[in-house]
Amino acid sequence: MCGIVGYIGLKDAYPIVIKGLKRLEYRGYDSAGIALFDGNNLEVTKTKGKVADLERVALEKNSKKGSIGIGHTRWATHGVPNDVNSHPHYSNSENLVIIHNGIIENYEPLKKELVARGYEFKSDTDTEVLINLIEDVQINEKVSLEKSVQIALNQTIGAYAIAVFDKRQEDELIVARLGSPLAIGVGENEFFIASDASPFIEYTSDAIYLEDGEMAKISLNEGVVVSKIKDGVAVDPYIQKLKINLEQIEKGGFDHFMLKEIYEQPHAITDTYRGRLLANEGVIKMAGIDDNIDKFLNAKRIIIVACGTSWHAGLVAEYIFEEFSRIPVEVEYASEFRYRNPIINKDDILIAISQSGETADTMAAIKLAKQRGAFVFGVCNVVGSSISRESHAGAYTHAGPEIGVASTKAFTTQITVLALMALRIAKQKGSIANSQYHYLLHEMEQIPSKVEKVLEQNDTIEKVAEAYKDSDNCLYLGRGFNFPVALEGALKLKEISYIHAEGYPAAEMKHGPIALIDEQMPVVVIATKKGHYEKVVSNIQEIKSRKGKVIGVVTEGDITVKELADHVIEVPETLEPFTPLLTTIPLQLLSYHIAVKLGKNVDQPRNLAKSVTVE
Ligand code: M6R
Repeated sequence: MCGIVGYIGLKDAYPIVIKGLKRLEYRGYDSAGIALFDGNNLEVTKTKGKVADLERVALEKNSKKGSIGIGHTRWATHGVPNDVNSHPHYSNSENLVIIHNGIIENYEPLKKELVARGYEFKSDTDTEVLINLIEDVQINEKVSLEKSVQIALNQTIGAYAIAVFDKRQEDELIVARLGSPLAIGVGENEFFIASDASPFIEYTSDAIYLEDGEMAKISLNEGVVVSKIKDGVAVDPYIQKLKINLEQIEKGGFDHFMLKEIYEQPHAITDTYRGRLLANEGVIKMAGIDDNIDKFLNAKRIIIVACGTSWHAGLVAEYIFEEFSRIPVEVEYASEFRYRNPIINKDDILIAISQSGETADTMAAIKLAKQRGAFVFGVCNVVGSSISRESHAGAYTHAGPEIGVASTKAFTTQITVLALMALRIAKQKGSIANSQYHYLLHEMEQIPSKVEKVLEQNDTIEKVAEAYKDSDNCLYLGRGFNFPVALEGALKLKEISYIHAEGYPAAEMKHGPIALIDEQMPVVVIATKKGHYEKVVSNIQEIKSRKGKVIGVVTEGDITVKELADHVIEVPETLEPFTPLLTTIPLQLLSYHIAVKLGKNVDQPRNLAKSVTVE
């Protein structure tokens, strides 16, 4: 949460930092700010609101000068979103300035000590405590800015990605990370810092991703000097070539990132299985599995940990793994798993699923499992992310950057990777019939074109959205492989349209939720031909007898549900384990259109952020 950007070079920092903040706005968007140094003055401009509001304030103040700049877009943790709590924060002397993504957990005792020593605080933030702690060290120990940051950070508990600037040391920027991501872009006579590489990809393709516990001094004279926060020992930075391009992080003619990302799914799924799925040869190649196949063959249990949409993908994976690999699977919310005392054995495998690879709860669950001796396999989208690095092995989803806060292509590509894993293991284990294995491999190759066919129904789905956009509640029902899709459909609607929605296994309806059904209640029912179809049809009849409105997601050519339901959306026929890859698409589009019709901010829904790096 929170996005940080910085520039040090010969150009004007303002446009670079502002553009970078706009790209990082998905990380948090309740306030924004920038600090610029023009060789004489260090000026901070900040405001509650979005980066566009910051631009207006900067224009009014005419404060856009300087070739060193740091900027921040905030998702509030300590202190309400207002101008004062926005970043950057000055130190008391106003010589130092800081931006911070993360939480300093022991800020209260630190603040008390600083107040006792005469420091004054304007904001409620933990960040203002940190910058004054750094200043205090600088004054008392008479050491460089770099050393002061190092000493101060060693007194903190928590998570951070920070950038600190001292106007008396005008040629350098100090950055550090622990638990929150930080990338450094290395250009010619210029350097960039950011929470991810998107703010600087048009300027350089060379990036250094700081590891947890590392800091760097960045200056035009010396370049990037990386060291350990703990003891100051120098580290050789690894410069990575970036593979993302500008087109991938722009809207490309779509009104919203979410819509673009929904439409990218045929490609994203293909990119995810490309090179891995060799259907004609009957082979699945996945280095992370191939290299550790014995661990999977001997695993007594797979524990999947994730949050939100990734957790729903984990639930689909549970069905697929148990069906084909015949390994018991438990799917846990990472946040619950880490705070109980889970029984983890050495022959358990923990699969952590995360689009961003930065989710704090998932990261903590991994650390716990590792401490207890489990083998950890990461399924992430963001290359080089913290979770991918913390895992023993893993597989990337290759969905490309997902910028809309509501996850769409992350979900379908996660299911793709997890299905490939399950089938790869099943084949080796001999727990799947040869003919079925080959059938599934060939069918997976058909999924992208089938997703295209679902997308062609956009107009029908928009009409359904028009009919139900004013509903206060919505139920989603599905069974088997499609129960997690019902949960995912409900989450999508809630998070971007703020309509209350619940997902249930269809058969559970009679145990309670049926009481909610009346003529005001739309019920989205996933009723594809495979998977307890007749039972789901009975559920639809039960809803209709109570005057509920039914939106059926059905297999092409279905007649029975068409006669019963108020609306139907057709998806092509596929093998049952792959149905979630198709049935989820109309639910994404339905939420999207409802939110747009209600005038909601689809890509940046209220109170949310793309990567949740706080617990
Ligand atoms: O980056 P992750 O996959 O770890 O994120 C997990 C959740 O925060 C995320 O899926 C969230 O629920 C999305 N907003 C759902 O659309």
